Amino acid sequence: MLVLGVETSCDETALAIVEDGRKVHANKVLSQIAKHKDWGGVIPELASRLHLEAINDLMAELFKDCDYQIEDIDAIAVSSGPGLVGSLMVGANFAKVLAWIYGKDLIEVNHLHGHVCANFIDSDLEPPLLCMLASGGHTQIIEMQSYTKMNILAETVDDAAGEAFDKVARLMGLPYPGGPHLDKLASSCEAEVPAEYKFPVAMPKSLNFSFSGLKTAVLRVKEKIGDEVWERDKVVIAKSFQQTVAQTFYRKTLAASEETGITKIVLAGGVSANSAVRAIFHDKFGGEGFELVVPSLKYCTDNAAMVASAGYFKRSDTSEFSFEVYSRVKTASVSK
Ligand code: KG4
Ligand code: ZN
Repeated sequence: MLVLGVETSCDETALAIVEDGRKVHANKVLSQIAKHKDWGGVIPELASRLHLEAINDLMAELFKDCDYQIEDIDAIAVSSGPGLVGSLMVGANFAKVLAWIYGKDLIEVNHLHGHVCANFIDSDLEPPLLCMLASGGHTQIIEMQSYTKMNILAETVDDAAGEAFDKVARLMGLPYPGGPHLDKLASSCEAEVPAEYKFPVAMPKSLNFSFSGLKTAVLRVKEKIGDEVWERDKVVIAKSFQQTVAQTFYRKTLAASEETGITKIVLAGGVSANSAVRAIFHDKFGGEGFELVVPSLKYCTDNAAMVASAGYFKRSDTSEFSFEVYSRVKTASVSK
């Protein structure tokens, strides 16, 4: 079954064609980052307009680069939320019109379910599994007993991990989105983190996450050491921050695994592209007793292949043309 995926939830216009949820035949991602960078973040109104300007040409490119025509597609899957409502509407209306004109099934996809499904691409992974999901707006541990049922075991009580990365990166004078820049800076550091720059791993009693304390701890260090020393030492501070986030993900995921008995572990979302996060998961979950799958880097951040994959697994649950987009998660479950 061939699914066309459509993704416009934030600042990436993306389209992809995926077979049976796992084999990618075409994948296009057009990033708007350069257009938003001067403002230090995504401008929602601009994002919607840029999606609208880009999506038709991107579709032409998508089909030019593969052996299929729109007629060969069996269903169209589209992110309906969470995300920026104006942006989501562009993708949703595009998908609705295509499905209506060509008589295709339409499948509304939860963007976060899409992130989890990035792990099924190019792999033979099967549920049950535990997913450590960390994106710009969400940080969750998700238990999946089936391909479509997401049980949220933990989420952040304040900032999302990606948000913390972006805020700390901004403190360091790095451009938006800060996560990948901070990763690069931290990875260039060969020094050990000295005691005065070590941050505690916040471990509230429940499985939930909290990142605002860590972000504030970095800010306090900056205030304490002053601009000159901060400039000199920010590389090792970036490394310390990144290692603390990675440790947090690991410890929480381990606790969730012990609680549920699930030993199949996957990563998802933009922050799963982080080198320290990937390294600690490979180190701790890559050996005996666990099975680890991580998405390839291009499927960690927003893309439409993951949306097409999620659409395939949700294929028996087609959507009415009247479905609406939404900005925040409305339900933990992805099936109706
Ligand atoms: O999943 P995603 O592409 O979009 C959302 O659904 O939010 O995640 C974007 C987030 C941003 O906060 C970005 O800074 C972060 O993922 N990110 C990273 C890395 N690459 C992207 N954070 C840390 N290290 C990275 N290598
Ligand atoms: Zn995302």
